[in-house]
Amino acid sequence: MANLVIIGLGYVGLPLAVEAARAGHSVVGLDIDRNVVEGLNAGRTHVDDLADADIQAMREAGFRATTDESVIASADIVVICVPTPWSDDGGPDLGAVRSAAGAIARKLCQGTVVILESTTYPGTTDEVLRPALEDESGLIAGRDFHLAFSPERIDPGNPTYGMRNTPKVIGGYTEACAKAAAEFYGTFVESVVYTKGTREAETAKLLENTYRHINIALVNEMARFCHELDIDLWDVVRAASTKPFGFQAFYPGPGVGGHCIPIDPNYLSHNVRARLGYPFRFVELAQEINSTMPAYVAHRAQNLLNSVGVATKDAHILLLGVTYKPNIADQRESPATPLARHLHALGAKISYHDPYVPSWHLNGVQLARVDDLDAAVKDADLVILVQNHAEYDADQLAKRAQRFFDTRGVTTGEGSHRL
Ligand SMILES: NC(=O)c1ccc[n+]([C@@H]2O[C@H](COP(=O)([O-])OP(=O)(O)OC[C@H]3O[C@@H](n4cnc5c(N)ncnc54)[C@H](O)[C@@H]3O)[C@@H](O)[C@H]2O)c1
Repeated sequence: MANLVIIGLGYVGLPLAVEAARAGHSVVGLDIDRNVVEGLNAGRTHVDDLADADIQAMREAGFRATTDESVIASADIVVICVPTPWSDDGGPDLGAVRSAAGAIARKLCQGTVVILESTTYPGTTDEVLRPALEDESGLIAGRDFHLAFSPERIDPGNPTYGMRNTPKVIGGYTEACAKAAAEFYGTFVESVVYTKGTREAETAKLLENTYRHINIALVNEMARFCHELDIDLWDVVRAASTKPFGFQAFYPGPGVGGHCIPIDPNYLSHNVRARLGYPFRFVELAQEINSTMPAYVAHRAQNLLNSVGVATKDAHILLLGVTYKPNIADQRESPATPLARHLHALGAKISYHDPYVPSWHLNGVQLARVDDLDAAVKDADLVILVQNHAEYDADQLAKRAQRFFDTRGVTTGEGSHRL
């Protein structure tokens, strides 16, 4: 069993820490956020899929969190799980990866296995991480230490596929590097999949996310013309998905959220444009279609009110579910935010209900949170189901509402308008 240091204790790093500790590794978590470190050391989780009990069990198995990078000096394995956001000037922001690399390089020892899990553009491990590690430490990758890329494939809230039963893709700088990383993951993941090198592993992750992004854009574009042609797209997808081969169902919605779908494909398209000078057209088109869905939903809401002679200005609109996925609290890039912004610009009075979101701000102003769901559904001029949390019985809510707009296609009865 290894001495493991995980850098970045968020949605990716923390579940990894839990699984590795369960497998018997000695785990230390390194994070720059003092609140995260203090919370974990007090046995509190800040990640949806983990309970306080998971953190406490991991603590009992020896886990501790720290902001002190000197822990890297005694690590056999260091896994980097820091954020890779999109910068304000429209490019990849590898600041956290570079900073983690600097911390590792200052403490790197012979024989350590360094693995990058953060989603990033092809070439990052070899062209950004490797020189940063080698230059400062004086050690050479593949000779003095091992270096690999292994993308995280976590799907928050997924009850079927977790870390253990989702195959782990591994790309090593050398074959020996890949084997060293696989030996570690093999202690708690059922199967590993090798790629030829680090670039293939980096690109595999981006292909997975781009595939979803593009297929969601396909049905989102279809949703618009199917509505005008009076075709029920949900019924179309249901019928098409009975084909036992060659088709995978994707569903339209009010827009895409989280990090993987709206942000990660940009890492690929930006890289293609920067290196080769031409666009990755599929990604750019999907981005355009998916990012205009909140405005389209606002437009449909306005038409719904208009059809019964109610002006959107001053209309009471209740948004149900404002997170980016059902049954979790994560609001990153949630399409509910641009949707609320569009409705606000039309003059609507917006309130929201979400069992996972105690307070929600738009342009720095706190939106009214509804506690009595039944009363609020009856009172609103229009209810929009933005995220279908398990707590919602959409058909029942639609029956009680004056007008109900279902952007998730889950209602079956009369009284509901589907996207
Ligand atoms: N959340 C997901 O579902 C998911 C799935 C697959 C891949 N990813 C990728 O994994 C990576 C991490 O994502 P996440 O969702 O866990 O992020 P997160 O924001 O939940 O957590 C990142 C953590 O890293 C810490 N951090 C930032 N800079 C640091 C530094 N220099 N040193 C130490 N700690 C630092 C932050 O304080 C934070 O606690 C990203 O590249 C993301 O694209 C995320």
